[in-house]
Amino acid sequence: MSPDSSSDIDIIPPDLLLTTTRSVRKRIDFDRAVDPLILKESLEIAIQAPTGSNSQGWHFLVITDPDKKLALAELYRRGFNEYASVPQVPRFGADDPRAGQMSAILSSAAYLSKRLHEVPAMVVPCVDGRWDDLSVFHQAGAYGSIFPAVWSFMLALRARGVGSSLTTLHLMYEQEAAEILGVPDDITQVALLPIGYYTGDTFKAAGRISADQRTYWDSWGETQ
Ligand SMILES: Cc1cc2nc3c(=O)[nH]c(=O)nc-3n(C[C@H](O)[C@H](O)[C@H](O)COP(=O)(O)O)c2cc1C
Repeated sequence: MSPDSSSDIDIIPPDLLLTTTRSVRKRIDFDRAVDPLILKESLEIAIQAPTGSNSQGWHFLVITDPDKKLALAELYRRGFNEYASVPQVPRFGADDPRAGQMSAILSSAAYLSKRLHEVPAMVVPCVDGRWDDLSVFHQAGAYGSIFPAVWSFMLALRARGVGSSLTTLHLMYEQEAAEILGVPDDITQVALLPIGYYTGDTFKAAGRISADQRTYWDSWGETQ
């Protein structure tokens, strides 16, 4: 059943973009530099995202210098090895779509970790302020004022044939990354996006726990 709606947007292309923007790791073209105009255009789109109190406290570090990419990749690999050293116990029931996805995700994540220094570009999104010991209200305001822009950036890249993935493992060593990149003390890094043209034509929607199962009407747990 189609929902009742009226809008000036043809929903088919945006829905396709929103449902097929995947974490691109194995399908990055490591040998082709990304046109800086694509990065600039996608960042201009990204900053149309909302921010708390219209703060617009975002900053985006684009890294193409091979020595800096290598130094960041080494921090990332330390983080990845730490993450991967914790035994990956099966956490999901057989009817949970995540159960069948984890080995491919881990293999793809290990591949990216190994080749991270070779990606054509990295983007480290940052935001004004330091957020240690913040209330839930302030944490939501802080991260909520940067991740909508990060996701918009990934969508805009994907629409232009460029893949990315949202990664956070280098943040285990955020201070060392700040020294490599000259990030001031009053700025927080929130992610590291490896970026490159993707190989192949398209991507598929992923299996997910259905939104219906996780949507409650009027009281927690009341699904429809
Ligand atoms: C907050 C956050 C942190 C993530 N950190 C990493 C990471 O450090 N390395 C990585 O390879 N993927 C990372 N991912 C990507 C997830 O593994 C990925 O989104 C998930 O497996 C679903 O796959 P999909 O993005 O292709 O739909 C992260 C995603 C989010 C939202």
